[in-house]
Order: sequence, then C-alpha cells, then structure tokens
Amino acid sequence: MRIVLVGPPGAGKGTQAAYLAKNLGIPHISTGDLFRANISQGTPLGQKAQEYMRAGQLVPDEVTIGMARDRMHQPDAADGFLLDGFPRNLAQAEALDEILKADDLRLDGVLDLEVPEDEVVKRIAGRRMCRKDSSHIFHVIYNPPQSEGVCDACGGELYQREDDSEETVRKRLEVYHSETEPIIDYYKAQGLVVTISALGKVSEVTQRAMEALPTRT
Ligand code: AP5
Ligand code: ZN
Repeated sequence: MRIVLVGPPGAGKGTQAAYLAKNLGIPHISTGDLFRANISQGTPLGQKAQEYMRAGQLVPDEVTIGMARDRMHQPDAADGFLLDGFPRNLAQAEALDEILKADDLRLDGVLDLEVPEDEVVKRIAGRRMCRKDSSHIFHVIYNPPQSEGVCDACGGELYQREDDSEETVRKRLEVYHSETEPIIDYYKAQGLVVTISALGKVSEVTQRAMEALPTRT
C-alpha cells in the first residue's frame, strides 16, 4: 500500500502516521523528520535545510526530491509506505509520479486531514516532540506526558520545535495554502483523495482514517 498523507501543519499527520503505519505494516516516511535528523547530525543536507525550515519555507525541490527518492528505495519500503509531508507542491507530486512509474508502481490513495485553522494553531502551540524518537509526539494539554519534559514512551527529552513559533507557523500555513493545497486537486483528478475530519480524539481519527483508506494492497 502506497499512501500520501496531506494536511496543514499541526493537523496531526505525524501523530496519525505512527498508528496508521503500524496498522498497515508499512514504514512512515516523513520528510520533516528526515530533515530534522540531518540537522541534529550536522550533515550538509541538514545545514542546507535548516535555514528554510527556520523561515517556514519549503526546502528546495532539488534537495527534497532526491532525499525522498532515496528513502522510498530503502528495502523496508519495497512493499509500500506512508508518506507524510511529501509531496508538498506540484513539482514534487509530479516527481513522485515519475519515481513510482519507473518501478511500475502507483499510489493507492491520498488521505487528506481536515482541521480548522484555529485548532491547528492550538495544536502547534502546545506540541512537544521527543528527541530520541520523532514518532513520540505530545501536547501540553491534549496529550500531556506523565512527567513534564520527559517522553512517556522512551524517557527521551521533550522539546519544542524551532519552527513552532507563532510567526513561523503563520508562514507555514501561508505556504500550505499556496503551494501544498493545489496537490489535493491534482490527486482529486486521479480519483485518489479521501478527506476526513481530524477533529476528535487521536484514536477516533485513526479509526476514521482506517475506514476511509482503500483496502487494496
Ligand atoms: P513537517 O515536519 O512536515 O511539518 P508540518 O507539515 O508543518 O506538520 P507538523 O509536523 O507541524 O504537524 P503534524 O500534522 O505532523 O502534526 P502532529 O502530529 O505533530 O515540515 C517541517 C518543515 O520541513 C517545513 O516547514 C519545510 O521547511 C520542511 N519540509 C518538510 N517536508 C518538505 C518537503 N516535502 N518539501 C520542502 N520542504 C519540506 O500534531 C500536532 C500537535 O497536535 C501535537 O502536539 C499532537 O500531540 C497534537 N494532536 C495530534 N492529534 C490530535 C488530536 N486528534 N487531538 C488533539 N491534539 C492532537
Ligand atoms: Zn520518546
């Protein structure tokens, strides 16, 4: 199964992807997580990405597409993957089509998470991420850790993302509307999009997503 997850910053893509990937038995591929791993390792790719991420802008396609392609070609992704945060503009969507076509593959579905803007702002403002494992995502009110600043799942340190400041979030939302939303129409034209509400409990959204996703593998 090859699925793309799309939705505004803070919609809950990373949170849902952790559960969905497990349920579907496919790896969760997040370009945001890949960039953050490169930044913490101090790689040249990370250094390049950091300035764009800090500004809430998209990292250039020539960096992003190659990184995503390499990850999709890892052995664990041979039978499918859940893409989170890629593609993020039309050029990346077209590049993804080409990457899949070269291996005689195609997408099975695009899951669009719908959340009102005031809710995503609240979700991002309270988000805390685990330094050891990017799939461990908390919220100071909606999903608080048992002890402040410590990940319940692995004991890792919780931190606030550098790009979660109010000003950068505003920019990220702007970029989402202008650059990313058009890919929803691109995929609608291919009959691939299912839209669900991402409001409610995390488990309720996961259930909604599992019911909406195609069953074909
Ligand atoms: P990326 O890391 O992809 O960030 P994003 O798309 O802005 O999405 P977020 O990670 O902010 O939110 P999310 O939807 O995953 O929400 P989460 O589950 O954490 O990208 C960051 C940057 O990297 C970009 O700005 C860009 O610079 C660069 N980049 C990445 N990919 C790129 C690409 N393809 N091309 C170019 N540049 C790229 O949840 C948010 C909060 O809400 C959490 O606190 C969570 O606990 C809480 N929450 C989740 N679900 C619920 C619920 N149901 N109820 C209550 N709270 C909830
Ligand atoms: Zn953790």
